[in-house]
Amino acid sequence: MGVVEEIKARVNIVDLIGRYVVLKPAGKNYKARCPFHPDDTPSLMVSPEKGLWHCFGCGAGGDAIGFLMRIERLSFQEAVGKLAQELGIELRSGGEGRNRLFQVNLEALKFFQRELRGPQGEKAREYLLSRGLGENLWERWGLGYAPPAWDGLLRALSRFGVQALLDLGLVVMGEHGPYDRFRDRVIFPIRDEQGRVVAFAGRGFEGEPKYLNTPNTPLFTKGTVLYGLDLAKDAIRRRGRAVIVEGYTDVISLHAAGIEEAVASMGTSLTEDQARLLSRYTDEVVIAYDRDAAGEASALRGMFILHGVGLRVRVASLPPEEDPDSFVRKAGGRAVEEILAQAQPFQEFFLHALASRHDLSKMEGKEALLREAQSFWPEIKSSVLRLAIVQGFSQLLGLPPEEVQEALRGVTRPVPRAEEKVAEIRLTPEDLVVKFLLEGKVPAGLVPELLAEEHRFSAVYREVVRRWAERRAEGSSPDAASLISDLSPESASRVSRLLLLDLKVADETKALEEALIRFLYLPRLSERMEEVKLALKDAERRGDSEAVRRFTLEFQRLCRERFELLRRR
Ligand code: CTP
Ligand code: MN
Repeated sequence: MGVVEEIKARVNIVDLIGRYVVLKPAGKNYKARCPFHPDDTPSLMVSPEKGLWHCFGCGAGGDAIGFLMRIERLSFQEAVGKLAQELGIELRSGGEGRNRLFQVNLEALKFFQRELRGPQGEKAREYLLSRGLGENLWERWGLGYAPPAWDGLLRALSRFGVQALLDLGLVVMGEHGPYDRFRDRVIFPIRDEQGRVVAFAGRGFEGEPKYLNTPNTPLFTKGTVLYGLDLAKDAIRRRGRAVIVEGYTDVISLHAAGIEEAVASMGTSLTEDQARLLSRYTDEVVIAYDRDAAGEASALRGMFILHGVGLRVRVASLPPEEDPDSFVRKAGGRAVEEILAQAQPFQEFFLHALASRHDLSKMEGKEALLREAQSFWPEIKSSVLRLAIVQGFSQLLGLPPEEVQEALRGVTRPVPRAEEKVAEIRLTPEDLVVKFLLEGKVPAGLVPELLAEEHRFSAVYREVVRRWAERRAEGSSPDAASLISDLSPESASRVSRLLLLDLKVADETKALEEALIRFLYLPRLSERMEEVKLALKDAERRGDSEAVRRFTLEFQRLCRERFELLRRR
């Protein structure tokens, strides 16, 4: 067991939380007043059985390590260190502690790099070249290859002892002993701002999950590192701005095209720690996320976090269907520079993003827009910015500013009692699908289909689904409680909520089916119907009667399917 798993197995969450708040038994759980928000009803729930806590008032939640991090304001490493010490678990990975762990990671990197150049690395070399990642980039980014064997790294680094490899997440403990986490994957090392290797990501050639990442370890806390910052920081200072993208390949390709101020948030939604890290180097940030709905939602959220630490934020609009990596390789660095130069300021992007999602010719559309904007309102602390946004909406909607302001501020309702809150919570189809997935209630046959549709999940849940897929790829049946210490605080809070809610449904199979229909099958069908409609029009214009017949038939079939689904609901 790595040190994190051992802590999780041994810590008593009720004792731990009980040091900070008064816990009262409530059935098989405990409740308390939440220490993270003013709480006059006990909204905080603790489940010893699940090893989780969640506040149904403010929405915070997680496991024991997460509680300690939040209440003592510690990093993951610090919280782990403290609990390990209390429980008498030494960080057994060696005398000199962290320095030695860094050294082990560096040796692992050298192993992966050797393998990329070696006889087994041919497929990986070809893959990198085919993606435009030429040999000149391999050294700079430390690219490597993990061979397919189960014990390649294990043997090569045996002199450091298995415990260190387990603690670093390089090796996983299976039923028959330890084995390599990364197998047959291209390796991207993740380095901290000083260039020390803290973690690895492995990209598979096909199949799920696309990326396998090191879990949280004594050297690595998710959401505190920005990929590429070690190589970007000089350019960020020099050019007076940073560019934030989502992926590893985005960063590498942008740097190669001369945009060396690019860093990546690595797929999780941007955290406050990452924002603060950036603010040490610059006061201006351009967000350049993928242009899908999920990317836009992430951009909106990221924007508020960056703005919250005092950064000036703009959002770039790549052409649809492109990410920075694909776009820069097609269009070149100059084209990207232009798009970055045209990036919209914070309030403009906010207005346009919301406006594009609603039909503003109708009253209902205007109301829906204001409701959505209202959910962001508490995050906007600056009064100057608030004013600018109110004026923007006022113009856009043709409403007097006072009215807009009132709508955005919203009516403050009395906070309901905790019991009422739990009782009135309605889970969305997406909530249900994730809950069933985490509880192991999605039939194995359906899992691959669901994982292939990860883009349908909102950003917080997409992170959960990805981490779940990683655990599954390790061969263990993923256990939600062990997953949670590997999530950003926001995703961890959402998961603890899902897991602590007891569903009161008579027939779970039916509930899952309904959720899948609404979350996955119907939206997928509608998308295909739209595509077919366009294709049909196009075929008619071309006078291609064979295609017209084919698309008409498909459209009729889709209509019938849709009808069937709606009936089953
Ligand atoms: N990511 C992850 N786990 C996944 C998928 C993505 O951790 N299963 C993270 C990675 O940091 C990845 C980023 O999210 O770089 C962006 O995801 P995506 O756009 O899907 O990947 P790309 O970086 O575009 O990867 P590629 O170009 O290799 O397809
Ligand atoms: Mn991408």
